Amino acid sequence: MSESSKQTRTPLIAANWKMHKIPPEAADFVSALKAAVLPLEGREVVICPSFTSLEAVRQAIQGTPFRLGAQNMHEQASGAFTGEVSASMLLAAGCRYVILGHSERRQFFGETHEWVNRKVRAALAAGLIPIFCVGEKLPEREAGQTMNVIRQQVRGGLQGFSSKEIGPLVIAYEPVWAIGTGKTATPAQAQEVHAFIRQIIVELFDASRAASLRILYGGSIKPDNIDDLMAQADIDGGLVGGASLESASFARIVSFQVSTPHVSTS
Ligand code: PGA
Repeated sequence: MSESSKQTRTPLIAANWKMHKIPPEAADFVSALKAAVLPLEGREVVICPSFTSLEAVRQAIQGTPFRLGAQNMHEQASGAFTGEVSASMLLAAGCRYVILGHSERRQFFGETHEWVNRKVRAALAAGLIPIFCVGEKLPEREAGQTMNVIRQQVRGGLQGFSSKEIGPLVIAYEPVWAIGTGKTATPAQAQEVHAFIRQIIVELFDASRAASLRILYGGSIKPDNIDDLMAQADIDGGLVGGASLESASFARIVSFQVSTPHVSTS
């Protein structure tokens, strides 16, 4: 996809706090982030705390352009599902986004393509924007299976939807070997998979849907690699774990700068 279609997609930086931060810590983080990055220009910021800190973050971000997201949800609207939270509950708690199919959910909680597909459907039906995660494991990459794995995950998660139904859905490409390891995919490795995902969206839906879809990279994003990642034609933002826990490093990531290519005047 060309640089010109990239200009039409608002970059999105999302903090995935995983199982970290109690409410007062969450509120302190937002105060520091506000001081460091507002006003936001040409980018969107989403904070995804644990369920117990959603309300603290909702209050803290009032009056700012920051958005609230959750890290998971159940696909049923309500019922006897002890310990689970539904899309309508997340909406009522102030969420606009929800991370779905994160590799930790797939790995530790047994989420399958079909299951993630049902969650994506329930989130969209309720009016939440899914941040739908895909990514290959190290042995899969080493066996040359990356593109097959990604194709299965994207097709599995989005099977049965029309272009209109997927609405504002966001995809996050997170190579599992890069998550929490300090080993970031190179910008070229990430770009290759992002372009491939966009091509799958062309096949599943159409070119205009593919051109408007935001695809985030995730996996050891840090202040010192975000600019190079964001310079890639098909990278539209980041899903940030470890480096989103500290306000200064997350603020630097939110403040990414993409240098414009040098234009010779001679
Ligand atoms: P990381 O996590 O930035 O700590 O690698 C990213 C994620 O799991 O979303």
